[in-house]
Amino acid sequence: MKLLATLFLIIFFTACNTNTKKEYMAISENAETEIGQEHPGKKLMENNCYVCHNPKTAEDAMIAPPMVAVKMHYISEDTSKEEFITAMVEWAKKPSEEKSKMPGAVKKFGLMPYQFFPEETIKQIADYMFDNDIEEPEWFDAHYKQMHGDRPRMKGKMGRGMGTGTGMGKNQKANTQPSEKERGMQMAQTTKAELGKNLMGQIQKNGIIAALNFCNIQALPITDSMATVHKAYIKRVTDKPRNPKNKANAAELQYLENFKKQVAAGGEVNPIVVDMGEETEFYYPIITNSMCLKCHGTPGKELESLTLSKILELYPKDKAIGYNENEVRGIWSIRFEN
Ligand code: HEC
Ligand code: HEC
Repeated sequence: MKLLATLFLIIFFTACNTNTKKEYMAISENAETEIGQEHPGKKLMENNCYVCHNPKTAEDAMIAPPMVAVKMHYISEDTSKEEFITAMVEWAKKPSEEKSKMPGAVKKFGLMPYQFFPEETIKQIADYMFDNDIEEPEWFDAHYKQMHGDRPRMKGKMGRGMGTGTGMGKNQKANTQPSEKERGMQMAQTTKAELGKNLMGQIQKNGIIAALNFCNIQALPITDSMATVHKAYIKRVTDKPRNPKNKANAAELQYLENFKKQVAAGGEVNPIVVDMGEETEFYYPIITNSMCLKCHGTPGKELESLTLSKILELYPKDKAIGYNENEVRGIWSIRFEN
C-alpha cells in the first residue's frame, strides 16, 4: 500500500512535464452567491498554506503537493469530518515521516517544515477543506483520470476543476503570477526551510555544540545563497542579536514591535508588504519553537551551561537568549524587484 502510494506520487510528479504556461480561470461561476457567506477557513488556508500548496503555481515550480492531493490522501469513503480535522491538527503540530500519508511527497519535496499555527486556525482550515471543493491545478483532473481512472468516492466533497468554493483572493492577479505578498512569503518560507533542514540535521547527527558552530559559519551564507536563488535581498534581523550583523534598523524594529503585538494577541499574523514602486519590501516574524530554546532559551533551563559558554565564546556580546516558545525571535526582511 505504502509502495503504491509512493509509486503514484513519483509518477504523478515526474510524468507531468508537458507543462506550458497555463492561465487558470480566476473567478468562480457562482462567486456572487458566495459573497458575504465565505467560510473563514478558506482565507486562512489561502494565507497560511498556499505559500507552498498553491494550486496556481506552475507545475514545475511547485514546492509542495496541491491541497486537493493532500485532501485525497486524508479522506476515504469512511473518513468522518472529526477524524479528518484531528488528522490535520496532529500533522500541523508535528509533521513527521512516520505520520505521513504522502511518503512520495516527502521524498520529492522534503518533509513539511514545522511552523507554528494556532490550533483553531488548522481546525477552521480542515473544516473548510472537508465540506468544500478545493481549487485544483488545471491539469490535476485529467492527470488523475489518466493515471488512476475515476476519482475515488469520498464523504467530503472533492474539487472538480474550476471555481466552485475557491475563487481568488482580492489581491491575486488572474493568472499564474503570484502576488508580491506570495512571492515574499515563498522566499521567507523556503529560506527558513533550508536553514531549518540544515540545523535539524546537524543537531541530530552531531549534537548542539556542533550545530552551533554550523550556525556560526553557515547561517549567513545559506541565507545569502537563498537570496541569490530568489534574486532578492533576504535578511534575518532582530532586536536582540546574537550576531551583530543581524541587528534590525529603525524601520525593522518598528515592524518587529508590531509583530510582537500581533503574536501576543494570539490571532493570525499577516506579513507587512510595502510597495516601494520598483521594489517591494516584505516583513514577516520568525517565531520560536521548543527546538530554538536549546540555543536561545533560558540559561539553566533549556539552555545548558556548556552550550551557553560556547555561545559566549563565539558571540561575546550575545543578546539572543531568554526566549520562550511562540515568541518573536526576529523578522524576515526581504526586498525584491517588482
Ligand atoms: C513552507 C511550506 C509549507 C507550508 C506553508 C505548508 N505546507 Fe503542508 N506540506 C509542505 C510540503 C513540502 C509537504 C509534502 C511533504 C510532506 O508530506 O511532509 C506538505 C504536506 C502536507 C500534508 C500531507 C502530510 C503527509 O505527508 O501526510 C498536509 C496534511 C499539509 N501539508 C497541511 C498543511 C496545512 C493545513 C498548511 C497550512 C496551515 C500547510 N500544510 C502549509 C509544505 C508546506
Ligand atoms: C544549535 C543552536 C541554535 C539553534 C537550535 C537555533 N539557533 Fe538561532 N542562532 C544560532 C546562532 C549561532 C546564530 C548566529 C548566526 C550567525 O552568526 O549569523 C543564530 C541566529 C539566529 C537569528 C538571527 C538573528 C541573530 O540573533 O543573530 C535568528 C532570527 C534565529 N537564530 C532564530 C532561531 C529560531 C527561530 C530557531 C528555532 C527554529 C533557532 N534560531 C534555533 C544558534 C541556534
